[in-house]
Amino acid sequence: MAGNELLQAPGPTGRDRVRDVLEGEFFARLVPRLLEASGGGAVLDLGCGDGLAASFAGEALERYVGVDVRPAPISGELVLHDLRAGLGPVGEEPFDVYLATFGVASHLAPAELRRLLIDLARHAAPGAIVALEALGLSSLEWPRLWTTSVGSARAIPYRLDGREARVHPWAPSELAAIYEQAGIAPICALDRSIQFGPKIGDGRYWPGLPRTRRALDALLADSASDAVCGELGAPLGPLPASSASRVHHALARRRRALTRSMRSQPALARAIWALEPRSGGGYGHGLMLVGRVR
Ligand SMILES: C[S@@+](CC[C@H](N)C(=O)[O-])C[C@H]1O[C@@H](n2cnc3c(N)ncnc32)[C@H](O)[C@@H]1O
Repeated sequence: MAGNELLQAPGPTGRDRVRDVLEGEFFARLVPRLLEASGGGAVLDLGCGDGLAASFAGEALERYVGVDVRPAPISGELVLHDLRAGLGPVGEEPFDVYLATFGVASHLAPAELRRLLIDLARHAAPGAIVALEALGLSSLEWPRLWTTSVGSARAIPYRLDGREARVHPWAPSELAAIYEQAGIAPICALDRSIQFGPKIGDGRYWPGLPRTRRALDALLADSASDAVCGELGAPLGPLPASSASRVHHALARRRRALTRSMRSQPALARAIWALEPRSGGGYGHGLMLVGRVR
């Protein structure tokens, strides 16, 4: 991933209703809990984009600094820096929560992420919370990666807002191990958007999957045609035999049952989103690993 590619790219992220409404609610519940667990109000947002995380933080937020390789107006201080080179010039004052939302950790290669975690642990005071979201290894988006090992064989090209980057998904145990090595005690892993990874059904990494995210987005807008709606009830076809396969097939069956019930489209969207399990197995598009600096 060349730095100048990132700098030339337009806008921070691909937005849709799933992100703005449902995933937004996920982070709006989570970020205040992270602040509460830290006992403080200072947040460092790594790969901050347009600083959306500040709006999730709630009343406990006292100080917000964002780091990103691309400039964007944020309501706080922005440090322009490439995290592949470590934490960067964020000042000496420690933060209470070191945060990265929407898969940012997977935009770094494994050695770069290890270095960033070591820098974070040195910068933070003991007790600070580190909550970095990566992409989940066992996401339905890329079944062919499920059995790969950490390293270059797992890094895949990834289209984000019209630019090509490389991303490296993670399993929770792998992230927990590099947290431990950096001196950060893992607390929990949280899956996000298991049924609605943006790459499910685009055919790039695995053929024949339904385009569930497009369908959920249309339901939220109350504008889904029968054909688009049908994608939410469609079977997944063959997947590699594994626990991830069982999780994804079971969700597809439960979705199918819901699509047969009579209700308004936005209500159906909510009911299907409510099927998302509170798991931490790396089955989602997002995998947040929460830890505490020792
Ligand atoms: C998927 S977006 C998430 C943006 C933001 N966290 C949000 O919640 O909307 C990924 C962000 O990470 C930033 N990013 C990617 N690689 C980076 C790097 N090496 N150094 C700093 N920022 C990076 C991108 O510029 C982009 O803003």
